[in-house]
Amino acid sequence: MCGIIAYVGNKSNAGKILFEGLHTLEYRGYDSSGIALINEKNNIKIYKKKGIVKLAKKKFLKEKISSKIGIGHTRWATHGEPNNKNSHPILSYSKNFAIVHNGIIENYSILKKILEEKGYKFRTDTDTEVLINFIEEINKKSKFDFENSLNTALRQIRGAFAIAIINKKIPNYLYGARRGSPLVVGISENNFFLASDASPIVKHTNDVIYLKDNEIVKISSENLKITNLKKEKINPEVKKIELKIEEIEKGGYDSFMLKEIMEQPKSIKRSMLGRINVNKKNLFINGINDYVKKLLNAKRIIIVGCGTSWHAGLVAEYFFEKYTRIPVEVEYGSEFRYRNPILNSDDVVFFISQSGETADTLESVKITKKKGATALGIVNNVGSSIARITDEGCYLHAGPEIGVASTKAFTSQLIILFMIGVRLSNRLNIIKQKKYVEMIYQLNNIPKLVEEILEQRNKIKNIAKIIYKKNSCLFMGRGTNFPVGLEGALKLKEISYIHAEGYPAAELKHGPIALLEKGTPVIVICTRSDEYEKTIANIEEVKARKAMVIAILDSKNKHVSEMVDYSIVVPQIKNDFSPILNIIPLQLLAYYVAKYKGLDVDKPRNLAKSVTVE
Ligand code: G6P
Repeated sequence: MCGIIAYVGNKSNAGKILFEGLHTLEYRGYDSSGIALINEKNNIKIYKKKGIVKLAKKKFLKEKISSKIGIGHTRWATHGEPNNKNSHPILSYSKNFAIVHNGIIENYSILKKILEEKGYKFRTDTDTEVLINFIEEINKKSKFDFENSLNTALRQIRGAFAIAIINKKIPNYLYGARRGSPLVVGISENNFFLASDASPIVKHTNDVIYLKDNEIVKISSENLKITNLKKEKINPEVKKIELKIEEIEKGGYDSFMLKEIMEQPKSIKRSMLGRINVNKKNLFINGINDYVKKLLNAKRIIIVGCGTSWHAGLVAEYFFEKYTRIPVEVEYGSEFRYRNPILNSDDVVFFISQSGETADTLESVKITKKKGATALGIVNNVGSSIARITDEGCYLHAGPEIGVASTKAFTSQLIILFMIGVRLSNRLNIIKQKKYVEMIYQLNNIPKLVEEILEQRNKIKNIAKIIYKKNSCLFMGRGTNFPVGLEGALKLKEISYIHAEGYPAAELKHGPIALLEKGTPVIVICTRSDEYEKTIANIEEVKARKAMVIAILDSKNKHVSEMVDYSIVVPQIKNDFSPILNIIPLQLLAYYVAKYKGLDVDKPRNLAKSVTVE
């Protein structure tokens, strides 16, 4: 959700550095983008434009000025529609300062009124312009000590922000600050970077500092200083990022989404690495070791997430309850945080998040900790805010996920949740040793089975060709495969803009069946489970309304294959692990439908990868 990149150093091609960074960050927002540079005459030059990064870059390339300092931004609009004037960077009223901002200033309207009374005129509809003018107003009074002005202003700001600012009066200094939204500092000798995440930094350096909430950083090519809002100097902890450049490139695929779908055999394997040991017939979840006892004695497990991560939580709800008999509740972060949740010290709350930065999930962690319950993270992005503030957690190790529609993160979330469930169940003596070992073997075999499904992609592509002109699709499944239906529908609507809904198969008759017409696609997840026969009965109901049934099956059941219009056969797997296989054809289906519609699957309209505003 909005990407920030900033640079100060001894290289005079800041513009090029910033645009390269923006290309890498584009998955965070692509409503508009732009950069601001301080040129050799100490003037601020801005190149920004509505639309993708390429368009703003085109403007810059016409001039190609040399500069050693600048800030850049790729936007996901919150305040003010996505147009040229609302694009960042945004200048202050005097045009002395330029700012880029990720987040939302909640008290902007009251500050705007005060500033208007003082004669400020606003050129944009953004809360960001209010923030920079507020800083400017304070700066006027504080005898032009910019660091102090920034500090005073930020203490009066409500809301979330990550910001980078340049000031033409002190042209060698770059300023950054954060609260709620992420900001990372990259250090490479006399060259410094500020960015929303490590991905645009890794090209230049592996040394980073993760700024904490309410910290302000002041950087020149000589020096870096971090202070907090109490004006205390902070000794920064420099960390190494483990990201490799190849991991954030497309590797020959036409999109990140397809690359990420195709690499799932590897990413799932990585999530199991060091955790499943087939030789020792055991599995270890070291990340949450200290809290295993707490989990075994938990009165209740709560799982919190948003979007795809919430769907992974729903699968876990079925799985955990079946195999551990501990009651599980699954919550949207956005609801959990505002309903004063009842939490006790013997509750364990899992927070699932690919990015580790989703604002609603992050805030839910803080509430959980305040109320004394245990907070465990299941996060992909190493060093992210949720990973840092939870009590303990398991990283997915799926590698960076850049396609806006989450794919490999979902299957890695599932494998981690399955491993936790199996381990707990064995410790609770619900799954006995023989079955435990059998389940470990099955989990270990999943990457191979995923590969077999990926090999069927041409068949899935052909089905996509049949449905891409439809207006609406329904998805249905039962038990652990009901959330797979939700996730399949989410994938399709996110990237193809076809209206899609997921339902528990039996719920269809309580309303959605009214939507069925001749030829309406209904995607049914019908792999073997305790409810298999019942799902087949639901298919009959759908077929009786002449809808078009596309079934995910796990065996060549002649009766079902003949009943449905199209079938995709996935390998059989027992013990409720099927969601991790069944979602793969649905990811591919959504991808090919969007491709047939000629859409950009990596940058679906109105969406952003990392939602750092509530
Ligand atoms: C956004 C993304 C989704 C993602 C959700 C939660 O909406 O577009 O793909 O599932 O945020 O993100 P998280 O990083 O917390 O898993």
